Amino acid sequence: MSSILIKNIKQLVGIATESELKQAFYGARISKVECIENAYLWMENGKIISFGEMKDSIEASLGIKDTTLILDATGRVVLPGYVDSHTHLVFAATREKEFCDRIHGLSYEEIAARGGGILNSAKKMANATEEELIESAWIRLQTVIKQGTTAIEIKSGYGLDVENELKMLRVIRRLKEISPITIKSTLLAGHAYPLAFRDNHEGFLRLIEEELLPKVAAEGLAEYIDVFCEKGFFSVEETARIMDAGAKYGLKSKIHANQLYHSGGVEIGVQKGAISVDHCECVGDNEIAALTGSSTLPTLLPGAAFFLGISYQPGRKMIDAGLPIVLASDYNPGSCPSGNMNFVMSLACTQMKLTPAEALNGATINGAHALELGHKMGVICEGYSANVLITEPMEDYNVISYSFGTNRIEKVIVNGKLL
Ligand code: NIG
Ligand code: FE
Repeated sequence: MSSILIKNIKQLVGIATESELKQAFYGARISKVECIENAYLWMENGKIISFGEMKDSIEASLGIKDTTLILDATGRVVLPGYVDSHTHLVFAATREKEFCDRIHGLSYEEIAARGGGILNSAKKMANATEEELIESAWIRLQTVIKQGTTAIEIKSGYGLDVENELKMLRVIRRLKEISPITIKSTLLAGHAYPLAFRDNHEGFLRLIEEELLPKVAAEGLAEYIDVFCEKGFFSVEETARIMDAGAKYGLKSKIHANQLYHSGGVEIGVQKGAISVDHCECVGDNEIAALTGSSTLPTLLPGAAFFLGISYQPGRKMIDAGLPIVLASDYNPGSCPSGNMNFVMSLACTQMKLTPAEALNGATINGAHALELGHKMGVICEGYSANVLITEPMEDYNVISYSFGTNRIEKVIVNGKLL
């Protein structure tokens, strides 16, 4: 029976009651962060048991034992851990040469068309062993946990053939076994057409349907399926076909949509009941209309827009239109070599004009919903997973998004254990 009591919390942030957690926050709720000043938080056996004002923390009634770890959070903020619902954390090599090529004027698409980009990562993936991939991904995972990520999604997608996709997914499975934080795995079946199938899309789609998916399903390696729906990558029809193929094996979809163009990705995602449509740089009135009233969550990845120097997602407009937005990192070697959710929130505030409250809800409870975890993590609520962050001394939680490029997270507690 492990237990932690955090006392003297300057501001306990992100409180919610169970009845408001059936769906992602939107409308007035996404703009609001419930807080208690001068608070305590009591966690036992991995769960949040109770919290409230310090004056009501009668330690005996909480069941404090000799073994209880008591943390003093004087001057500090305590908040729910981030849920990063979109990453490509497993990769074999960085791509700084392409970074320099883009500085000299080449675009992301031009680099991809010349066989760089995803194809470049696939070449490196083919030569990497499972052990090497686990080792490098493990280091990245430790880094993002220190920055406050307490649950994460990881995609395959740099395999581009059956053997290497399975290798990537087995690496993710191993990470799940050794990781202190929850990991969800996604088969990114349609990321790019490999050179051998550039003029034979039908052949590649059949490889996914007839070989890759049955093997992934037989080993239970993935929870979701993903496709990069974009001009020059997978068309709307091809995307729909891969989503349908995944659905036959019980895989719900989370797709890459509308990063570079108004590609129809958002609309097909909604039509097929995707859990989320991710990227959304190119979202206007038509896409907003399609998302309105649907259960599909738009996930905004401002780190990718920042790194590629393209226009940001219209997050302000989407929230004002009543949509529940999610924020995620997109950590990957090509378009966002960082998984720092603090910076993602800063970008959402400075570039999309979200308030720090909206950014925090996007990065916590709405991220949890994008991974079907909203019933157990993402807020401070009795019975929820004890995934909480303790900051450096600060005035209030706004300082986290304000402090761009700085990690203000001092302590990370995952499932009731101080890491
Ligand atoms: O989400 N856009 C597609 N996939 C990734 C980037 C892949 C890469 O360049 O390695 C993304 O941005
Ligand atoms: Fe991505």
